[in-house]
Amino acid sequence: CRLFYLGLEPQTQRRLASTISAIKAQTGNKTARAAKEDKTFQAIQEERREQAERSVLISCPPRFSEKKFLDYLSKHGTINKHFFYSSYGAYAVVEFSSKESIASLKENTNIPAVEHEAAVPFKSRLLSLKWPGSQSNNQPVPNFQEQSPPSIGDITQLLSEKDSVDEQLQCLTGALQLTEENISLRFLVCSLLGDIAGAYFPECIIRPFGSTVNSFGKLGCDVDMILDLDGIYATSQKKGSGLSLEYQVKRGASERAVTQSILSVIGKCVDQFGPGCVGVQKILQARCPLVRFSHQPSGFQCDLTANNRVAMKSSELLFLYGQLDPRVRHLVFSVRCWARVHNITSSIPGAWITNFTLTVMVVFFLQQRNPPILPTLDQLKDLAGPSDKCVIEGNDCTIVSDLSKITLQKNTDTLEKLLQEFFEFYGNFPFNKASINIRKGKEQTKPETTALYIQNPFETTLNVSKNVNATQLERFVKLCQESAWLLQKREILNRSSSQSAESVLPWGFAALLLPSVTSGTGVKSRRKRKLEPASSRIKNLLDSLKIKGGETVAKKGST
Ligand code: GTP
Ligand code: MG
Repeated sequence: CRLFYLGLEPQTQRRLASTISAIKAQTGNKTARAAKEDKTFQAIQEERREQAERSVLISCPPRFSEKKFLDYLSKHGTINKHFFYSSYGAYAVVEFSSKESIASLKENTNIPAVEHEAAVPFKSRLLSLKWPGSQSNNQPVPNFQEQSPPSIGDITQLLSEKDSVDEQLQCLTGALQLTEENISLRFLVCSLLGDIAGAYFPECIIRPFGSTVNSFGKLGCDVDMILDLDGIYATSQKKGSGLSLEYQVKRGASERAVTQSILSVIGKCVDQFGPGCVGVQKILQARCPLVRFSHQPSGFQCDLTANNRVAMKSSELLFLYGQLDPRVRHLVFSVRCWARVHNITSSIPGAWITNFTLTVMVVFFLQQRNPPILPTLDQLKDLAGPSDKCVIEGNDCTIVSDLSKITLQKNTDTLEKLLQEFFEFYGNFPFNKASINIRKGKEQTKPETTALYIQNPFETTLNVSKNVNATQLERFVKLCQESAWLLQKREILNRSSSQSAESVLPWGFAALLLPSVTSGTGVKSRRKRKLEPASSRIKNLLDSLKIKGGETVAKKGST
């Protein structure tokens, strides 16, 4: 490891050291994950939500005594867990063992007196720690947990140190995946938002969905939220005299109109009363109306939707696939990272392939292996028990929730083989006539002429990749072909030939992250590339990567 550091700039060394310690910390996460393995998706979400309700988020000075801080808070009750991170300033997440502690803490917290302005007196669980000024400077700096992904340069270096492609892909997942702390923070932000929405709808719950919960989330990805009003409709059906009461309610023209008006009001509250919530945009005319904002204390970009239960079911489905075989997550993380680096995906909405689409493509590919690595959606439905039955707006969304009911076939393909075959599979896929269908686990005849047709798993008449145009699909196919070609050449798989005394050259998967020639961001023409030995080409590409060094995967947005 020390040899590997030789020749790196001190700044890069520090960043790498922090990445490595983050990955080591993730080993601890694995234990937490393993402990959750026998729980259903719903049970895991419920546990995290309940923990978040017992938590507070506290802005802290950059230096303070952790012990004094915890002693002070402990006066209000037992602290279960806590951690520190730095975003726009230093913050602490503190989880108490009981909700009463929050009430006690709030009783002893003041609304600040602000000069020249006036405060909105909303008592949230986002607090500020006031440390006597003169005592703060000579205090130690607490251990801040990393909340951002490593840069692409750091990832390339880190992977190049590994001994096999399989190790590289496992390491990549470890470096990019959400940490337990980051997931807790995401649930806490949802819970804080729930306090605002709860002023109108006390039974509502704000739940995270998408990559926060589907096990494919990368540090830095957005927080997708659903305002869940189902609790309001749960009525107490007491039998008796035959009399009953109903609430008088306002009516809207349609479900969509009601959703839009609820989101509009909540959006306004978030904007005007929500501490830390900035840049609130109401995007109510979208197919799925939403309120987008930044939550500054966490650094998260948030998308709040309502009445979006199918999306939550899709998250559960992806989570389930991710749990069935560790290779699923490794392949999804690798393909997502590869696609982001080559601008196949983007943080801006448009005609690009999305992460959700890519993940479904990986699932479909793994269903096509011989023997299959993943079951079809119909098979997951057949294994479901009576309590798994789920119909949303007429769509049967039933899937088995008990993972132990699923028997997998024995497939021992290495990650290296799967990665290569993924690129070959989609490099040669008949996109012009076939559609991708994970419910049947088979390609089918395309029902319409859109460039890419991937049947929506639950709303089967819809295409999840309707937005993708022919140009973007072609870029994806070309890049798959190029990556398959590079892996077939095997030169990039030869680690020893790409070593030099000063540093380790990118090889294996790391070499696939170097700027591409076909994607239009490359530095050399294809003709010139053919004339060069691969090692010198890779070296040139690495040099160009160093020039672009400031650009990180993180900065390119959530993928
Ligand atoms: P990130 O890019 O890491 O945020 O991945 P993500 O899975 O969270 O994707 P995104 O934030 O774009 O969308 C959130 C969730 O909405 C996804 O996980 C899906 O459940 C759902 N979703 C997104 N796009 C589509 C789509 O085109 N069709 C359908 N049916 N669901 C979608
Ligand atoms: Mg998302």
